[in-house]
Amino acid sequence: MNQFFKKKEHLSSQSNKKLKKTLGAFDLTMLGVGAVVGSGIFILPGEISSTITGPGIMLSFIIAAIGCGLAALCYSEFSSKIPQAGSAYTYSYYVFGEGIAWILGWALLLEYGLAIAAVASGWSSYVVNLLSGMNIHVVKALSGSYDPSSGHYFDLPAFIIIMIIGALLIIGVKESTRINNIMVIVKIMVVLLFIIVGIFYVKPDNWSPFLPFGFNGVLTGASMVFFAYIGFDAVSSAAEEVKNPQKNMPIGIIGALTICTILYIIVSAVLTGVVPYQNLEGVGAPVAYALQSINQNWIAGFLSLGAIVGMTTVIFVMSYGGTRLIFAMSRDGLLPKVFSKTNQKQTPVQNTVILTLSMGIVSGLVPLSELASLINIGTLFAFCTVSIGVLFLRRNHTLPSEGFNVPLYPVLPIVSFIICLYLMTNLTRTTWIAFIIWFILGIIMYFTYGIRHSKLRTK
Ligand code: ALA
Repeated sequence: MNQFFKKKEHLSSQSNKKLKKTLGAFDLTMLGVGAVVGSGIFILPGEISSTITGPGIMLSFIIAAIGCGLAALCYSEFSSKIPQAGSAYTYSYYVFGEGIAWILGWALLLEYGLAIAAVASGWSSYVVNLLSGMNIHVVKALSGSYDPSSGHYFDLPAFIIIMIIGALLIIGVKESTRINNIMVIVKIMVVLLFIIVGIFYVKPDNWSPFLPFGFNGVLTGASMVFFAYIGFDAVSSAAEEVKNPQKNMPIGIIGALTICTILYIIVSAVLTGVVPYQNLEGVGAPVAYALQSINQNWIAGFLSLGAIVGMTTVIFVMSYGGTRLIFAMSRDGLLPKVFSKTNQKQTPVQNTVILTLSMGIVSGLVPLSELASLINIGTLFAFCTVSIGVLFLRRNHTLPSEGFNVPLYPVLPIVSFIICLYLMTNLTRTTWIAFIIWFILGIIMYFTYGIRHSKLRTK
């Protein structure tokens, strides 16, 4: 138990295993928008607005944004005061101790791992559709995850995109963030194009009734659209590779979330203003559908391309966050050493190969739609811990006190904790059961491996 609650102190310098500092505030903001805007806005709003919220989906986006915004402030405080790789995992190591940190790291592995695999399968269906529109047909057996009854055996496009991202990460983070920045700009332009074209076709009558499923629908919707915001927290994994993290981390995290919130609220307003919400039932690509319904087929085609680019950057940043998390856990001795080996350019190559290869295989084989809400629960769990962690951070005098401070302390961190906990309670029982199983597996891993190999133990 002593070991379980053992904390890191005084921003311990992490032996010679360090990552190179190359990123600035702009790169970070782009990483954030890259991680966030993806299938959550290009796929989810159709089903949610038609069956759960109606046009009130705008309010769901606002409520989820408030929860995420408060959590983002807490993340900003931690990442500016403890600028080390590993995000919430590392912060917990300093304020709660090793055992809780491990549990957090384990929950984040679930978030990043599943998000990579799930978004890659969304990416694959968009690509397969787009190709078939161009008369190029991917062999059926290789166009979907294992499901012999529908003739699918392996999702090859999903596997390939994850491998390409792995290769980019191996080339180096500075080089690949340049490519990420370009793709993020394309994605933002495409979303703006939708807004600018769609806004002329908005019929305010479509917004009435505004809450056909009542305010409860809006709240349930908020727990679901929460998925669309997931990813800004992955920005904090980059802390160790950022120049002047005290200033740049808060700008990157809060900047990215602000851009995404504004885009989401306007997109959902335009979407439900152009198409009556009832017509969006079962529509898998609602934004493109809205453009087709006003005869803007060309722009709808661009939008599909933008969605593909958009999902690519989500996979990129989540893979990046995942490799840095595993790096940090391995550097601390809680995972095997191979995950924290770096090459001359200080890139963790083996770690990247193992993570992306295993995620590629999972994404190729396993049908993930049932598991997608596990991503929400893993993330919300991390948000709750980071929010409450701010209270412990401020009281811990061995840690730096200069850096970004959450305003209205201690009210905002507590409100953040309550909102995230509330969103967790709205998730289904199956999600909770699966999460608890994952949690138990994590505890077993810790007591059989981590606790024996921990660096803090040998000191
Ligand atoms: N927020 C990310 C997405 O919507 C996970 O794809």
